[in-house]
Parts: sequence; structure tokens; C-alpha cells
Amino acid sequence: MTVHTATCTAPVNIATLKYWGKRDKSLNLPTNSSISVTLSQDDLRTLTSAAASADFQEDQLWLNGALESLDSPRTKACLADLRALRAAVESADASLPKLSQYHLHIVSENNFPTAAGLASSAAGFAALVSAIASLYELPQDMSELSKIARKGSGSACRSLFGGFVAWEMGALEDGLDSKAVEVAPLAHWPTMKAAILVVSDDKKDTPSTTGMQSTVATSDLFQHRIHEVVPKRFEEMKKAIVNKDFETFGELTMKDSNSFHAVCLDSYPPIFYLNDTSKKIIKLVHKLNELEGHIIAAYTFDAGPNAVIYYDEANEAKVLGTLHKYFAQVQGWDKKDASALNGGVDIDGVD
Ligand code: ADP
Ligand code: DP6
Ligand code: CO
Repeated sequence: MTVHTATCTAPVNIATLKYWGKRDKSLNLPTNSSISVTLSQDDLRTLTSAAASADFQEDQLWLNGALESLDSPRTKACLADLRALRAAVESADASLPKLSQYHLHIVSENNFPTAAGLASSAAGFAALVSAIASLYELPQDMSELSKIARKGSGSACRSLFGGFVAWEMGALEDGLDSKAVEVAPLAHWPTMKAAILVVSDDKKDTPSTTGMQSTVATSDLFQHRIHEVVPKRFEEMKKAIVNKDFETFGELTMKDSNSFHAVCLDSYPPIFYLNDTSKKIIKLVHKLNELEGHIIAAYTFDAGPNAVIYYDEANEAKVLGTLHKYFAQVQGWDKKDASALNGGVDIDGVD
């Protein structure tokens, strides 16, 4: 039996300007453009292997060791697009094996909690598309492939690029201009760091897809967000990244996280992603910044209670030290040099 295989990894990306709302559900076209930072491969990532063989009887996907249903129209859309591109490659070169006609076996593993608001769908679909594109030896560039990953999960389109990434919402009905583009590579701002505070690894009760649909259908505040707030913020945040202006970047990031959770609360019935620990983290970061006299740490929360704190490496001891003082079980401390945790400052009124 001949089996053709390829393996790829994709890191998660954490949005600093949130995607929340679809204008087209089947194509995953968003109601606003968004911006994110892709984490390093050493942190949270998906590892996916794809295999094609004439002997496979059906398409199958194993996620974290368990067989997943492939009935979802989103996964089907990704596979159909990738097969069509492979078929074009095969028709240009008759000597190539007809992989587009074979079934696929896909094995994927996330090294972090799945469906807990830590962007597993982003890393998951980015790795799936990358692995199959590599197996099929497709010539398309990352922006082109991002349109396919987008159909799997909107946020996945941004994980095909490293560094600072924008997802341009596009204006076309067919979605051909709704794609990810690089704002700046990680090397542009290598001192930017992200700490991930796993408050809970439980599966969220409102998945992103259903949550955003409810917001679009019921929230009045949402109209203000997508028309008045985000378009301006999108330009300002790109500029802050290009200028490596942490103060502006941090302020916009925190405001956008708050705006996103506000439209969740304004949905009917309301959607609660933040819990009491999340709120304590928000309070702590504001007090730390206040004490410093300027912004040295910026929080953001996706569709779950887990926090991501962006900071500049120069402030690592102060930021991580302070977080450690108040939230001792935060993941990843073991990896840090103990001296990095000794710079914490005392803050009243957090507990
Ligand atoms: P998250 O906040 O983790 O992105 P979502 O509700 O957006 O949560 O999406 C979770 C869903 O994404 C999972 O239930 C699963 O269907 C899909 N997913 C997660 N990881 C993978 C993966 N590695 N490969 C394929 N699909 C995945
Ligand atoms: C809060 O990309 O998971 O993380 O497109 O329905 O799969 P689907 O949703 P998903 O939503 C992500 C929402 C968010 C913000 C963001 O990543 O921009
Ligand atoms: Co997701």
C-alpha cells in the first residue's frame, strides 16, 4: 500500500482586535477586519499529519486521539478547495499521482486545551490546511491558503502567518478578498512577549460560532462596534505595530477586548466568557500600569476566561513577577528563570 504523507505545525494566534460576527456563515466572511499576534511554535500549537492513499476507504480525522466527525460543512469546504487546487496541479503534469482522488487520513494534536477559548480552531484549521497543501505540493502563497483556512474557522486564516497579522474583511460576496496579510514579521518587534494565564481549561459552553451569531442577531451595541469603533481602531493598531508603540498598542488591545466582551454581554440572552478571576486579572493590570505611570502590560481575553498578557521583554520581571504574586499557578512559570519573577510590585485591593 502506498501512502503519501506530510506533517505541519501551526501556532495559535491571539487577536488584539477581535473578529466577532459573520456577514456570511457558510463562507465565514466577517463583519469586521481583525488583527492578531501569532505565538511562537514553542508555545501553543497544533501538529497535524495528512496522509493520502488509494487504499483509504473514507476521509477521517483524529483529533487528540479520538475520531472526529468529518460531517461539518466547514471541514468539507476546506478539503474540497484543497482537492480542486491539487486537481489543477495534476492536470498540468500527468506524471503526478492522483492524490486529489484519494481519501485522506488526518491526525491532529493540540498541545493545549481544545475549545477553551485559547484559539484551538485557529491553530487546528491552519495546521490542517498547511499539512494538506504540503502533501499536495500546492503552489499557492499563504494569503491564498488563508482563504481556505478561513472557511474552516475564521481566526485560522491569521495563523498561516507568523508575527503581526491582519485579516482584511474584504467587500466581495464570494470572499475572494477576505484574507490574511502580514502587518509585520515577529523579527520587527522581537521584544514583544505574551504570557498565557490559563484560568480554566474547561470547554466553553457557548462556542465562538454560536456566540457570534447570537450577538449579530440581538446586540444593538454590536452595530456601533463594527461601524464606529473597529474601522478606526484597525488603522490605529496597524500604525502602532509598525511604530513599535507599546502604549498605543496596549491601550487599543485592552479596549478592544473590553468592547468585544461588552457586545457579548449586550447579546440576548447575554454571553458571559469572563469569570471572577479574569476580572481580577483586568484590575491587576490596570493597577500595575497606573503605578508605573504608563502602560507596560495589556490583557486580552478571547471567548473564554483565559487571559493573554502582552508586554515588552524589558518589563518581564515586573509584569510576570506581579502576576505571579497574585496568581501563583499560572502555566509556564516553570520555564521562566526564577529571577524573572522577583520583580513583582505590591498592589492593594486586588483580592
Ligand atoms: P477555540 O476557542 O479553542 O478556538 P472554538 O469553539 O472556536 O474554540 O473551536 C473549537 C473547535 O475547533 C473544536 O471543537 C474542533 O471542532 C475544532 N478544532 C480544534 N482543534 C482542531 C484541530 N487540531 N483540528 C481540527 N479541528 C480542530
Ligand atoms: C474571540 O474563529 O473561533 O477568538 O469562525 O466560527 O470558527 P469561527 O470562530 P473563531 O472565532 C474567534 C473569536 C475570537 C476573536 C478572534 O480570534 O479574532
Ligand atoms: Co476558535
